[in-house]
Amino acid sequence: MTFDFDHPVERRGTDSGKWGWFGEDVLPMWVADMDFVSPQPIIDALLRRVQHGVFGYGMDSTALKQTLVARMAQRYGWAIQPEDIVMLPGLVSGLNIVSRAVGEPGDGVLINTPVYGPFLTAPVNQQRTLQSAPLHAMQAGRHLHYELNMPGLAAAIAPHTRLFLLCNPHNPVGRAFTRTELATLADFCEQHNLVICSDEIHCDLLLGGTQHIPIASLAPEVAQRTITLMAPSKTFNVPGLGASFAIIQNPALRKQFEAAMAGIVPHVNILGMVAAEAAYAECDDWLQALQAYLTANRDFAVRYVEEHMPGVITTIPEATYLLWLDLRATGLGEKPADRLLKEAKLAVNEGSWFGAGGEGFIRLNFGCPRSILKEGLERIRALVAAAAN
Ligand SMILES: Cc1ncc(COP(=O)(O)O)c(C=O)c1O
Repeated sequence: MTFDFDHPVERRGTDSGKWGWFGEDVLPMWVADMDFVSPQPIIDALLRRVQHGVFGYGMDSTALKQTLVARMAQRYGWAIQPEDIVMLPGLVSGLNIVSRAVGEPGDGVLINTPVYGPFLTAPVNQQRTLQSAPLHAMQAGRHLHYELNMPGLAAAIAPHTRLFLLCNPHNPVGRAFTRTELATLADFCEQHNLVICSDEIHCDLLLGGTQHIPIASLAPEVAQRTITLMAPSKTFNVPGLGASFAIIQNPALRKQFEAAMAGIVPHVNILGMVAAEAAYAECDDWLQALQAYLTANRDFAVRYVEEHMPGVITTIPEATYLLWLDLRATGLGEKPADRLLKEAKLAVNEGSWFGAGGEGFIRLNFGCPRSILKEGLERIRALVAAAAN
């Protein structure tokens, strides 16, 4: 079966956050939301459910939990049980719940930067102390590669640190960490008795044959200290339906997590649950085609940067649909996204939103038809060229 990812979809006038936030003349390539129609089985399942016409309170879907148990076993050799799964309306909520559930006010939460903005704010929202170490950045020619920085983490940790927030695959630097890297990190967390919260929302957005390894799948001891966060939202382009989940195999940790949710976090939307079940049960062929399209988009964008943007350094993401570009040598200053918005009418994320090490960078979303990607890259090229003159 073939899928058409090339066809641009009109999203203006649909209350889309991505397309509605800025002016009509701005091309949006910022928030992690793709410009593709969701797979047909999801649309069909939603239509069937809507046609029923009764939208009373729901309950967790047994079929969805069974599908997830089978998926973790089949994709990762990871044996989980339906009761390990806690449904959530969103993963930013998940990051806040974990920060609230682990330790006490004043305790430390360790992260690596740059990283997805809510990693910086969730601990602080929950009266925890943020401790951070920069990722280890390595430049080779025009390319940038990041690794976990274990000496940096060892230097940043304090006696009251209780939690490590991991982003894998990593937003914004696009790494899918290897088994060896994850094992080193798991050892570190064991040595320091840290709970691991692993945000794996991008785990299905794998490019060019990359494998994803959930850190909890490394060993039962690692699973006992890990809360894994996942969702169909990024992969199947259903973030507006609000359905995601945590996998927590340690019953005591799960109880703590559920206690931190009590009375605050609403049940998952019934349509979100339907979409999640269809996504995971019926859309493997669509996902395979999406991965191939995104891989070609990545390659197109990296080549474009190499050929047309002198001075710009790029990651070559292994996963996600996010390109992390270093514009520090272009003369566009500390806030290049601001300049791009005002002068090139292109919305991308400002690197500084991702914390230390992001200043002078931008994050570009390439989850879109290639024609839109090309247009966005051309707008960056023109501004970079103008700044060089
Ligand atoms: C790493 C990461 N976690 C969480 C989220 C947001 O999750 P949600 O929309 O479920 O709150 C994103 C969205 O970009 C993300 O990149």
